[in-house]
Amino acid sequence: MDYINPKLILNTSDVNSGTVRWQSPSNIALIKYWGKHDNQIPRNASLSFTLSKSYTDTKLSYKPKLGTDKGLELEYYFEGKKEDAFGKRVSAFLESLYPIFPFLKQLELEIHSSNTFPHSAGIASSASAFSALALCLCSLEDRLFSTLKEDEDFRRKASYIARLGSGSASRSIFAKVGLWGQHSGVEGSSDEYAIDCSQFLHKNFDVFHDYILIIDAGTKEISSTRGHELMNEHPFAQARYQQAHKNLSVLRGALERGDLDMLGRISESEALTLHGLMMSSPTPYILFQPNTIKVLQLINEFKKTTGHPVFFTLDAGANVHMLFPDSVKKDMDSFTENVLLPWCQDGQVIKDMIGDGPLEVD
Ligand code: DP6
Repeated sequence: MDYINPKLILNTSDVNSGTVRWQSPSNIALIKYWGKHDNQIPRNASLSFTLSKSYTDTKLSYKPKLGTDKGLELEYYFEGKKEDAFGKRVSAFLESLYPIFPFLKQLELEIHSSNTFPHSAGIASSASAFSALALCLCSLEDRLFSTLKEDEDFRRKASYIARLGSGSASRSIFAKVGLWGQHSGVEGSSDEYAIDCSQFLHKNFDVFHDYILIIDAGTKEISSTRGHELMNEHPFAQARYQQAHKNLSVLRGALERGDLDMLGRISESEALTLHGLMMSSPTPYILFQPNTIKVLQLINEFKKTTGHPVFFTLDAGANVHMLFPDSVKKDMDSFTENVLLPWCQDGQVIKDMIGDGPLEVD
């Protein structure tokens, strides 16, 4: 499948200036995407919970170009300030999308983006940033050409575009649970875009929390793009892709049955496998900090003594995501305040939860 469409060309004298705006959340993967090939095609299917409070707010303003200049005209602002590093990545991304959105060459664009989570919290922002941008681009196409009226078509294209920017961003387009990557057990799944899997969710997960314990707010030693590359030469790569496939089948059953214990086992194993893969790659990386291990131990001890269904997962960094259902929230709050906070950098914790997906702002 591709969305190449040379017909999406404007008659610029008919175009008024305007703005589109989306708020799109980050997500936390339970089955990890780690390894890709060709143009952002994953080596295995991944599944994530869509978050609620950690999101990117992106406003895309446009007006018809007056001159005949055919290059990209973009001003990119992050949190009110011109931002060059990420602005360059966004420019390259938009240029790569010319075959899909040829009208981008005909407009002057200005993007204002901001995150609800602190810039320095060490939280991967590419999922929320690229999903918000992809949604803005699809809204812009629909505004100018009325081509994406059906919600399903709109979301599918937005997820496809988001994937091209950052793989994990494809999953943020959907409420509650997104699944990206072809999987034999999930009808409609695709390597090209994510799909909505909220129908898998048992009511045990209706209100489900993810407390993000900020262990290290600094930038990561290794970008996820480099991490994916390491899988190309990893001695355990094939076994990993098979394991991910199997884990996804088991997790799907656990989500449907409301089996918290199984969800915990899979999510913890996936997190440790991800870090194990980094540690055992030809160029090894250790992204744990001493406090990461300490916090994992404290969570395990707390689980043993209370019997509460609390689990962890990690991204490719030092921060810990602590997952638990609403039924134990009160105890989890006091455990977090009294026991975990001292191990977090500057006592930072982001109390997030499963959310309802992106929101268009008028
Ligand atoms: C560990 O989506 O950031 O968070 O496609 O190169 O932008 P790119 O990678 P990215 O990788 C995310 C890796 C992960 C696991 C996950 O979210 O599935």
